[in-house]
Amino acid sequence: MKEKSIELLNKAVADELSAVHQYMYFHFHCDDQGYDLLAGLFKRTAIEEMQHIEKLADRIIFLKGDAEIVASSEVKKIHDVQAMLEMAAQMETSSANDYNRWAIECSNNADSVSKSLFETLVMDEERHFDQYDTEIDNMAKFGDNYLALQSIERSKSRAAGNPVD
Ligand SMILES: [Fe+2]
Ligand SMILES: [Fe+2]
Repeated sequence: MKEKSIELLNKAVADELSAVHQYMYFHFHCDDQGYDLLAGLFKRTAIEEMQHIEKLADRIIFLKGDAEIVASSEVKKIHDVQAMLEMAAQMETSSANDYNRWAIECSNNADSVSKSLFETLVMDEERHFDQYDTEIDNMAKFGDNYLALQSIERSKSRAAGNPVD
């Protein structure tokens, strides 16, 4: 019973780690192309996914398991912003679906703390999905102008002497 929770929590750690890697990869490339808004969104989300790993690992260790810090998939080398956002939205949907199912499984095994942890994560993943979905809508509405505006803002900020972050 405890073993099943540890297995599910570790699967979540592996998926969260993949999300951290993928979002940081997207962050680097958005930053390189001057898209500050999206670069910031990917970075902040990667940091939140890392905090998810911390919560999952704490629970695993409490249950006397060990946190397997191994990513579940390789980083996909996507450079097109629309494709990045679609992949990110898809990753959030799939995490929310998994965590909903795993919450029920932990509940069936009378592990209510792991159940609530998964439920808390579902709330965060749905919020992440919503942020990416809004950006997909912005891309659909404003197209390349949306990205051009971000580059212009970056150039204005640099020209005004603001430090590179
Ligand atoms: Fe997460
Ligand atoms: Fe997420």
